[in-house]
Amino acid sequence: MKFSAGLLQQLLFAVPGVLGAITVDINDAESVKAAAALVADDLLTFYQGDELGETPGILNYDDYYWWTGSVLWGSLLDFRARTGNTTYDDVIFQGLQWQVGDNNDYLPRNWTATEGNDDQGLWAQAALVAAQTNFTEAADAQAQWPAIAQNVFTEQSSDERRVSDSDTACDGALRWQIFTFNNGYNYVNTISNALYFSLGAQLAWLNDNKTASDEAIKTYDLLTSIGLVTDDFDVYDGLTVPECDSINKFQFSYVAATLLEGAAYTYNYTGGDDTWKTRVDGHVSNILSIFFPDGVAVEPSCESIETCTSDMYFFKGILHRSLAWTMKMAPHTADTILPVLKTSAVAAVSTCTGGDNGRMCGFAWSNGTFDVSNAGAQSSVLGALVSVLEITDVASSGSSGSGSSSSGNGSSSSSGSSSSNSTSTDGKSMGTNFGISFSALFGALTIAALFA
Ligand SMILES: *[C@@H]1O[C@H](CO)[C@@H](O)[C@H](O)[C@H]1NC(C)=O
Ligand SMILES: *[C@@H]1O[C@H](CO)[C@@H](O)[C@H](O)[C@H]1NC(C)=O
Ligand SMILES: *[C@@H]1O[C@H](CO)[C@@H](O)[C@H](O)[C@H]1NC(C)=O
Ligand SMILES: *[C@@H]1O[C@H](CO)[C@@H](O)[C@H](O)[C@H]1NC(C)=O
Ligand SMILES: *[C@@H]1O[C@H](CO)[C@@H](O)[C@H](O)[C@H]1NC(C)=O
Ligand SMILES: *[C@@H]1O[C@H](CO)[C@@H](O)[C@H](O)[C@H]1NC(C)=O
Ligand SMILES: *[C@@H]1O[C@H](CO)[C@@H](O)[C@H](O)[C@H]1NC(C)=O
Ligand SMILES: *[C@@H]1O[C@H](CO)[C@@H](O)[C@H](O)[C@H]1NC(C)=O
Repeated sequence: MKFSAGLLQQLLFAVPGVLGAITVDINDAESVKAAAALVADDLLTFYQGDELGETPGILNYDDYYWWTGSVLWGSLLDFRARTGNTTYDDVIFQGLQWQVGDNNDYLPRNWTATEGNDDQGLWAQAALVAAQTNFTEAADAQAQWPAIAQNVFTEQSSDERRVSDSDTACDGALRWQIFTFNNGYNYVNTISNALYFSLGAQLAWLNDNKTASDEAIKTYDLLTSIGLVTDDFDVYDGLTVPECDSINKFQFSYVAATLLEGAAYTYNYTGGDDTWKTRVDGHVSNILSIFFPDGVAVEPSCESIETCTSDMYFFKGILHRSLAWTMKMAPHTADTILPVLKTSAVAAVSTCTGGDNGRMCGFAWSNGTFDVSNAGAQSSVLGALVSVLEITDVASSGSSGSGSSSSGNGSSSSSGSSSSNSTSTDGKSMGTNFGISFSALFGALTIAALFA
């Protein structure tokens, strides 16, 4: 570590018990839980959706894309399931329900026009974390978490969402954008397809639904046949149609990790199928070498060249959490994965020395220095910490919904109303919030431009 003015300041101000940097003994679950509770508490300082006049469920949309709200809730749900801490049940429940939309499919009216398949898929993924961790369900008349995810999966299975052109090898691929008028309609991004694959794999597992598994696997196979997933398990960002070539070869951790998680669920659902074991092991080994050089998570496509955009700060947390779920579904991978998650989490926490409270977390994990402070960086450190803990069976607090637990109910229902307080309009125009679906593409294009 270099001695800098910043470091000197940290040393001077890191007075234990007063302005305390967060410390953790990574091999002591209670220590990890205590550290995670502090990081979670600080994460929620970025959230105003539960205040009067603000929109529940999302982070301030001047600074964050709509989908990042789903990662906020997903990381808090993992925190809850792995620490047993139910402090945030109400705020998580309200946030996830508020954005669910009239048709229980995470296409709420405010956001539909700018939404991409990846945005919708990320929210469905949060609903599945709720389902997988038996989080409080909505009252009986309302859709349950698995049903909401199934609605999204069903919509994304339809031809309208996909490339429909038998002349191209991309035929059947899920498009990035839902609507023709949005930039990116002719881009097949891997994350949309990876999320679809993971949703189907999880729904198959939850509902014992072979049809969903088969559908999901078709999309995984397509990604390999069009070269977005290579024989070495590299996972590229995407490609354009109708040509279905000129692959954008940038690699982002959350894309590979999402595919891995889907592969792990499929492996488990198929009872340990050899093909899926090979894929799980291949993705694990590729991910550890590309995204954890020296055992600490990095986002290589943006971090070293300092071009990370506000959404990219969320990726390392998704990476860690997906690896944790992979260990659950494919326990033989734990010996390989867990030690790396631990060294990475220790490095992550070493950045938690910033802000007014002296413990806000940064993103330069491998440097061990506090650099930036934002909801993405904070949620990623939370994800890193909780990823080393086991899932526990958490009793539902039951204060928000019916108090029932999810038990793999995949049926749909149509009520989307929320029991929460409605908030007044804050006067901000949604129309000006251009390009919700940033995806990794624009970041990649920026990088490409830098090298042009
Ligand atoms: C649960 O998390 C909250 C918020 O960080 C914290 O105040 C509380 O102490 C935690 N509870 C336990 C039992 O760790
Ligand atoms: C939609 O926008 C209105 C007006 O800003 C807001 O009150 C409401 O909470 C928003 N709903 C969602 C789902 O974002
Ligand atoms: C199983 O998955 C298929 C494909 O998504 C879906 O049409 C069907 O409704 C699902 N069945 C159940 C019981 O969830
Ligand atoms: C499937 O997951 C369960 C729960 O973690 C685990 O006990 C079981 O060993 C897994 N199956 C395989 C084939 O790894
Ligand atoms: C790590 O620190 C070095 C030296 O201060 C700096 O040049 C580099 O940009 C930092 N890396 C990251 C990822 O912040
Ligand atoms: C959720 O509930 C199911 C069914 O009761 C149970 O098998 C499973 O272990 C529970 N999972 C968690 C994470 O509590
Ligand atoms: C899901 O719940 C609904 C309403 O309670 C019920 O009618 C349906 O049979 C359940 N489906 C499954 C798969 O348990
Ligand atoms: C609505 O907000 C008011 C004032 O903050 C509060 O007293 C009430 O309990 C809230 N109702 C619900 C359903 O959250």
